[in-house]
Amino acid sequence: MADEDPADDVELEARLADQGVFEPPESFVEQANVTDAGIYEEFEENWPECWEGAADLLSWDDDYDQVLDDSNPPFYEWFTGGTLNASYNCIDRHLPERADEAALEWIGEPVEEDNRSITYEELHREVNEAAALRDLGVGEDDVVTLYMPMIPQLPIAMLACARIGAPHSVVFAGFSAEALATRMNAADSEYLVTCDGYYRRGDPLDHLDKTNEGLADVDHDVETVVVDRLGPNGDDFGHDLDEDEHDYADLVADHAGATVEPVARDAEDMLFLMYTSGTTGQPKGVKHTTAGYLAWTAWTSQAVLDVKPEDTYFCSADIGWITGHSYIVYGPLALGTTSMMYEGTPDYPTRERLWQIIEEYEADQLYTAPTAIRSFMKWGAEYPANNDLSSLRLLGTVGEPINPRAWKWYYKHIGGEECPVVDTWWQTETGGHMVTTLPGVNDMKPGSAGPALPGLDVEIVDTNAEEVEPGRAGYLTVQKPWPGMLRTLYKNDERFIDEYWAEYSDTDSDDPEDWVYFPEDGAKVDDEDYITVLGRVDDVINVSGHRLGTMEIESAIVGVDGVAEAAVVGGDHDLKGEAVYAYVILEDGYEGNDEMRAAIVEGVEDAIGPIARPEEVVFTPELPKTRSGKIMRRLLEDIANDEELGDTSTLQNPGIVDDIRSKSDD
Ligand code: WTA
Repeated sequence: MADEDPADDVELEARLADQGVFEPPESFVEQANVTDAGIYEEFEENWPECWEGAADLLSWDDDYDQVLDDSNPPFYEWFTGGTLNASYNCIDRHLPERADEAALEWIGEPVEEDNRSITYEELHREVNEAAALRDLGVGEDDVVTLYMPMIPQLPIAMLACARIGAPHSVVFAGFSAEALATRMNAADSEYLVTCDGYYRRGDPLDHLDKTNEGLADVDHDVETVVVDRLGPNGDDFGHDLDEDEHDYADLVADHAGATVEPVARDAEDMLFLMYTSGTTGQPKGVKHTTAGYLAWTAWTSQAVLDVKPEDTYFCSADIGWITGHSYIVYGPLALGTTSMMYEGTPDYPTRERLWQIIEEYEADQLYTAPTAIRSFMKWGAEYPANNDLSSLRLLGTVGEPINPRAWKWYYKHIGGEECPVVDTWWQTETGGHMVTTLPGVNDMKPGSAGPALPGLDVEIVDTNAEEVEPGRAGYLTVQKPWPGMLRTLYKNDERFIDEYWAEYSDTDSDDPEDWVYFPEDGAKVDDEDYITVLGRVDDVINVSGHRLGTMEIESAIVGVDGVAEAAVVGGDHDLKGEAVYAYVILEDGYEGNDEMRAAIVEGVEDAIGPIARPEEVVFTPELPKTRSGKIMRRLLEDIANDEELGDTSTLQNPGIVDDIRSKSDD
């Protein structure tokens, strides 16, 4: 019964299959925030001053002197000389108009009565109370780690940190103890807010145990605050707080009703850090600053997601990833809208859960990931059809390429052919959207994200930095800076240059024209400047829209007793986009059996988290290597994808690929 209704599918195929271009619906354009196609030319002619409009969306303590200081590329600075506070911008300034309107609609799991509508006034109160973090010693510029799932205390703690000028570093709750420790050590973070546990599919899950395991590996003292999410349902876990662990409720109760002056932060002061996977085993601490990031997320929320204060806007991402930072918390709240946050999964207790939520809250936008859309498609159109989704005005996707079939399904079955779909390409590093249609301006082409946003200079180039012909695959590059860009990798300027700039820049030059940002994605462009993103060109796998480094996974596998060597690649996967395929050499005396396989899966889950769990583990006596000893991952990818093998002539051990392939087929 979960399968798609074949008749419906046939109809969709027939009517939409051949259609390659979709005009924005008239009803949408009539009310859209941005409708003037002249914006592209206007921004190009007026660059970088075109970004003053984005800065005007914010309230400043001191006005800025200069839009862009590009005197020391690639260390660009935006809106220099200005001061402001992000928490003030997301809360206080909305109070005169919107105190009683919901800032956050929190939909919890599993008990319906748990849901909370948090007005701007309540958010103001709770954020001020949470600024009690100062009692623990948190000062300006101290990094506070937040290790929480989708509970209200997560955005509240983020905004409390922003209020007192302490950058936050949110670690996704699904990440392992080890991942938490690595990030806290890398950021020298001496403060942590976590929780006792949370619910998954109705069952309580221990989180504090994992937290404590991680803390044991942190190389400095940490003050920990624990949110009690489970109440008596967590009693079975038998948690008692240690001396350096504080109860969140007690901490804020001491400050009931207190108000804390928002700290005026320099435009370029750090707002937060977010660790993301890169080509080496060590995650990268992406640094975002206060003004540029906030202006970027506010402006794109308005121009791309068409957010208006009176909307109820729903992004189904987790705040533990950049999408949730930019488009559940900062962008929407800066605009004073109502932002929904959902704690649960889309198919619990039933596959109608998301659609029921949209109907109940009359959501205006839905912003989700292609991997989710592919699941919805597989479950069938009857689930959304049972609910009234007519409140929706705009649909969005993010995280990975969306195939035209999934795009069209989303457009028809969720949007009723009346909502534009924005396919937004961007990264943790870019802060917010970069390549997407403007929904009230551009036609949509399923499968292609769209043109670069106004004011951005995106080129698809070959290895010689020459622009490629339309239709040819090349590398996506950004030729000019933009306000939302990362400023550096935390305490590692050198790696920042190596990772993002060195490839296409003259790194000896101080002329900004010689500096080009390389996001490590492949792409092609058509003759109307629409960009189709082809995927990562580095050793990063995109599993269900989540970035995972192959090196991190490999070192987890090599850490398992009996493993001599491992190579991990991404292989195509119907639902996840990509999945993890592991090729493993065992030490003598160990056997490649189910037990070993289980130990490897467990090793990966312990080191990173369940999202990195290998789809397949193949034991092999050797890995395909070049004569210089480099593993040929491309060949392993071909095997994982069951494709014809690429060139094997440079291998020192060409026979091994057929051998591995026959093992994979078992
Ligand atoms: C991929 C998520 C195609 C891309 C916001 C990028 C996409 C990486 C799209 C960043 C899209 C993101 N089409 N690919 N619309 N959006 N990607 O840092 O490979 O978690 O480099 O940020 O996701 O992942 P990150």
